[in-house]
Amino acid sequence: MSYPYQIKSLEQYHEVYKKSVEQPEAFWDNIAQNFLWKKKWDKVLEWNFKEPKIQWFQGATLNITENCLDRHLEKNGDTPALIWEPNDPEEHHRVLTYKELHFKVMQFANVLKNNGVKKGDRVCIYMGMIPELAIAVLACARVGAIHSVIFGGFSAQSIADRLQDAQAEFIITCDGAFRGNKDIPLKGVIDDALIACKFVKRVIVCTRTRTPVSMIKGRDVWWEDEIKKVETQGNPFCPAEEMSAEDILFILYTSGSTGKPKGVVHTCGGYMVWANYTFVNVFQYQPGEIHFCTADIGWITGHTYIVYGPLSAGATSLMFEGIPTYPDAGRFWEITDKYKVDILYTAPTAIRSLMGFGKSQFIGKHLSSLKKLGTVGEPINEEAWQWYFKNVGKEKCPIVDTWWQTETGATLISNMAGVTPAKPSYATLPMPGVQPVLVDEAGKEIVGNNVSGNLCIKFPWPGMLRTTYGDHERCRQTYFSTYENLYFTGDGCLRDADGNYRITGRVDDVLNVSGHRIGTAEVENAINMHNGVVESAVVGYPHDIKGQGIYAYVIFSTEMKHDEDLMRKDILQTVSRIIGAIAKPDKIQFVSGLPKTRSGKIMRRILRKIAEGETENLGDTTTLLDPNVVEEIKKGKI
Ligand code: WTA
Repeated sequence: MSYPYQIKSLEQYHEVYKKSVEQPEAFWDNIAQNFLWKKKWDKVLEWNFKEPKIQWFQGATLNITENCLDRHLEKNGDTPALIWEPNDPEEHHRVLTYKELHFKVMQFANVLKNNGVKKGDRVCIYMGMIPELAIAVLACARVGAIHSVIFGGFSAQSIADRLQDAQAEFIITCDGAFRGNKDIPLKGVIDDALIACKFVKRVIVCTRTRTPVSMIKGRDVWWEDEIKKVETQGNPFCPAEEMSAEDILFILYTSGSTGKPKGVVHTCGGYMVWANYTFVNVFQYQPGEIHFCTADIGWITGHTYIVYGPLSAGATSLMFEGIPTYPDAGRFWEITDKYKVDILYTAPTAIRSLMGFGKSQFIGKHLSSLKKLGTVGEPINEEAWQWYFKNVGKEKCPIVDTWWQTETGATLISNMAGVTPAKPSYATLPMPGVQPVLVDEAGKEIVGNNVSGNLCIKFPWPGMLRTTYGDHERCRQTYFSTYENLYFTGDGCLRDADGNYRITGRVDDVLNVSGHRIGTAEVENAINMHNGVVESAVVGYPHDIKGQGIYAYVIFSTEMKHDEDLMRKDILQTVSRIIGAIAKPDKIQFVSGLPKTRSGKIMRRILRKIAEGETENLGDTTTLLDPNVVEEIKKGKI
């Protein structure tokens, strides 16, 4: 495949960027010609940020899987589409060419149909990182069903909440998942979730770990049995459902400042164009290169840069089941050498954790195939950037620092590998079509350079979220009401003298723990479920490896107080049950009161400072109801 829209120089970037801002419709009309549509659009863009209403490629129809699979068959049918590296390095890896992946997706699409899945139905996918996960995602897209992938680390309660919100009647899962030396009983978790979700009609279970599972008559079926049924039916073909550009492709739940995760909605046409355009340009993908994105498909990064971006570009995408430190800290490097990986895209938290293992992880590793590196998910500190650049990239690979969000579908701000300059800890320049602005608290635009403010975007791009599932008003309030006529990202940002952007972190009550978004309110709700807890307040604090750690201040009922260590363990267990292990606080401090204003609002600013280790400059404390509380909390800090 060739990519006529791939930008090749800094001058060209500036030229293209200018055009994308001055004539956005003509610009995207031109880019979109590079895809396979069943019917072309009547209008490129219709929008207002007030409602909000955002429609790209109105009137067009397509199926994204024809762009990700069918269109590559003739010329690149034998090119590997997916390479899969198992958790256990002794186990055989798998390679699926475009032809094979196409076949398997159609086969499983027929399984979905046999099980009653129709266009528009919501299908929840809760699987480990095996090729069948990518196949399940694409098969949903093939038949026009809306997939909602849930990361394997979420608890039964979290799954139940999401199933109810999406009214998903179908589930695809595995018996279990391997991650490092752990074996996670996915089907068991699903069974617990389904106690509260009687509306679920069908659970398709793929075999991976051979963990014993209970299969409920009339509801649960095995993936492998269903495939056999399709084989005996004899027709391997499954036509691609004709979808409107604005039909929903998927829902992906993410945390915000309120207690309840929201279902971010992406649509078929715009998301496809955006995922592809950013993949091709940010990573400067060349045909034949091996692209290794280490994310899990349970997060947006996996959706966009393991599945839809690379496959729509006819690329070879490497999918890894395990974790960076299993069986040892050299695993990423071993995989890189084994498959001669060209592009490695990972998270700062992974880099920081590997830094701690010293140089021995590189013994016997060449890393000579690497051409380009990338990071995503959180700000990368300069030290981690330099370590990555020197030890992994051997000072010859450009690093792209890609800033984006679940809501933005794909990268909004990043350098382009080897084409636009990198600057450590800066995401640098906006992608064509992206118009960032910095605003002050009052929403006034801050112009000029060497300034900082809250990051907003003032014009739509094809891959932006369209709504939050089932609750459009929530979408409006969360993203489009803080500042008039702007999409508000929730991030703070500075712009240097050359116009480069540096994202400094969230300005709302959202934590970024190991690159995963967690709302403080969500964690508080979970802690408060414990019957001994009276009240709690959760804040973030700087953590060497995770970026941010979770610090919880908890008031425990005096009658129920017992051994503090046990109380802590009970609370951690409760959070794991309600949300999942990823949301477990790193520190729990028991307090007898929380700093509150006279109107009863918790002053988190003070708690945040104390958690960060600040004891003197706590800012204005005159509005506090009881200043003594602060002294007590300072003394008890862990
Ligand atoms: C943060 C992940 C700094 C940011 C793709 C954003 C980053 C949130 C970067 C979205 C980066 C992501 N530099 N911060 N390169 N990339 N973030 O939805 O705070 O899981 O708002 O999407 O991660 O997280 P999400």
